Amino acid sequence: MVNPSEIIPFTPSVPAQVPEPIALQTRNLTRWFGDFLAVNNLHLEVRRGSFFGFLGPNGAGKSTTIKMLTGLLAPSDGQIELLGYDLMNDPIMVKRLIGVVPEDLNLFDRLTGAEYLTFVGRMHELERHVIAERTAELLRVMELEDKPKALLVEYSHGMRKKISLAAALLHNPQMLFLDEPFEGVDAVAARTIKNLLERMRERGVTIFLTSHILEIVERLCTDIAIINHGRIIASGRLDELRTQAGTNLEEYFVNLVGGARRMTDTLSWIG
Ligand SMILES: Nc1ncnc2c1ncn2[C@@H]1O[C@H](COP(=O)(O)OP(=O)(O)OP(=O)(O)O)[C@@H](O)[C@H]1O
Ligand SMILES: [Mg+2]
Repeated sequence: MVNPSEIIPFTPSVPAQVPEPIALQTRNLTRWFGDFLAVNNLHLEVRRGSFFGFLGPNGAGKSTTIKMLTGLLAPSDGQIELLGYDLMNDPIMVKRLIGVVPEDLNLFDRLTGAEYLTFVGRMHELERHVIAERTAELLRVMELEDKPKALLVEYSHGMRKKISLAAALLHNPQMLFLDEPFEGVDAVAARTIKNLLERMRERGVTIFLTSHILEIVERLCTDIAIINHGRIIASGRLDELRTQAGTNLEEYFVNLVGGARRMTDTLSWIG
């Protein structure tokens, strides 16, 4: 028998790695629409402070996933832990901490931009002077000052995207979910938004983004996951995936997703 006093305590030569804090974790996240399985048993992990690109072809399940992660759509199964809270148990707490630009921009069409931001600020229980200051600043940065009297119903598609992003930023969230934020936005505004998002990430905000514009993903994202037919088919640090694949993100994506698809680049009447 070994005398416990003779046991040399094990001291690892390399200090135990401190696990990186996780902003978002899902387990078995699943969504059925009738008998169609749109999101299939998703295990996602997003590091705090990362810029996470959630990529996939049309119909892959990205927006369905974002809607579940932000409490807009109930999962059929699975758990979601966001910023230390269980989304099902603490939905209000989570909603205080996150900002969302959803795919369907359900805005209040009969309000002006300033009225809408004021409404959103009141929902978040911000003080009136804070709402007024931030509203003015957001309208200026998003270049939405030109038509102060215009109702949201009169906004162009890109203007609606920008006011939706402004609303998502108003309460200074710890995590942002952006579903195609650059779609329909002009090049100058896209540059402003990119710079703004980069600054937010530098300040520790975690950003979860879907975009089909892979140049933007490549420039901004630190981590990616690729979803196809509701399942994750690749995930990891972007630079590591690129090094492993020995190619750029577009080639990597097209090979991964397109490889399984019959690609046709002709039309019968065009030849
Ligand atoms: N409300 C719904 N009812 C039935 N099917 C739905 C519904 N919403 C989404 N789907 C289906 O779920 C699948 C995933 O849709 P989703 O909108 O999540 O795709 P996506 O990855 O966001 O695509 P895109 O890049 O085109 O935005 C699609 O096949 C879609 O038809
Ligand atoms: Mg979508």
